[in-house]
Amino acid sequence: MARPTDCAQAQRGDVMNTSDDHRVQKVDVIDKLRNRIARLRQCLGNRPRPIITLTYAQSIDGCIAPFGGGTLQLSNSKSQQLTHQIRTLHDAILVGINTVLCDDPRLTVRLANGNDPQPIVLDSRLRFPLDANLMRDPCIRPIIATGQDACENKENQLIAAGARVIRVPLQADGLIDLSQLFLRIGQMGFDSVMVEGGSKVITNVLASQIADQIILAIAPKFVGGLRAVNPNEAWEQMPQIHDVHCQMMDGDLVVWGQLRSANVLNRSLFPQTGVSRSLPECPANAKGEEPYDEC
Ligand SMILES: NC(=O)c1ccc[n+]([C@@H]2O[C@H](COP(=O)([O-])OP(=O)(O)OC[C@H]3O[C@@H](n4cnc5c(N)ncnc54)[C@H](OP(=O)(O)O)[C@@H]3O)[C@@H](O)[C@H]2O)c1
Repeated sequence: MARPTDCAQAQRGDVMNTSDDHRVQKVDVIDKLRNRIARLRQCLGNRPRPIITLTYAQSIDGCIAPFGGGTLQLSNSKSQQLTHQIRTLHDAILVGINTVLCDDPRLTVRLANGNDPQPIVLDSRLRFPLDANLMRDPCIRPIIATGQDACENKENQLIAAGARVIRVPLQADGLIDLSQLFLRIGQMGFDSVMVEGGSKVITNVLASQIADQIILAIAPKFVGGLRAVNPNEAWEQMPQIHDVHCQMMDGDLVVWGQLRSANVLNRSLFPQTGVSRSLPECPANAKGEEPYDEC
């Protein structure tokens, strides 16, 4: 029989069933992430861009979708619930336009209690469909980040349909310049952003060394499909995961940790201060402690 505390927690959506095992697993992951984000906020208080969490579900062979794209349900219901809880910890959620075109996601919080994050879509050519599910929420309309030269007519249609369109400089490869975008998002008042994919966005976010932490749900399945991380010429710039934690969730392995570059100072992100993103000014560092071990 469920104990009173279990019932109260279940009503709040804190537990998924009355098994102690599952309750402990769930509280562990989400509490640690909440602490970690609070700690990052403390350490990065003056940083001009938001805290960035990269999150996605992949198969054991590193795929996030079938070959050639399309939708694939990889994670189990408990990992999905965790994903929704992680959404509640962030002000905004970011995906690439191909994910919108393939999955037509809502990016809302439905499997947990908490606020919906603000959806942001990377869409340099304004391919965003006017009838996408992201347009259906009367309370939160998407922010569409596009290039300076994107079609004005389509921009007006999207604005008329309720979206916010922001123009951001493009990188040399024609994609949205992520460091510029995140600075802009920070200026708009969003302190934390969850990046949910797809593959091109995951690869670009990793290669630009802009994310602070990663949370991966690894499903025990082989897919042989679209790799989460594409082969990348900038592989030397890929960050590594530190302070790694992992937990089983009903057969899925959830792994999370801090993303840090081994030896590259990404000064372009800190034009005024020239501060390294390895956070030497963190109070914990100043005391000679490991910065995020307890998170
Ligand atoms: N398993 C999971 O957790 C998960 C999560 C999300 C998605 N997915 C899957 O991922 C697949 C889609 O992935 P995808 O790689 O094809 O596309 P994607 O990452 O969703 O979107 C990539 C597109 O976004 C635009 N973009 C603009 N600026 C960008 C930037 N700086 N970095 C990256 N992209 C930028 C580009 O299109 P323009 O040039 O037109 O701007 C680019 O082609 C779908 O099959 C979806 O189901 C899986």
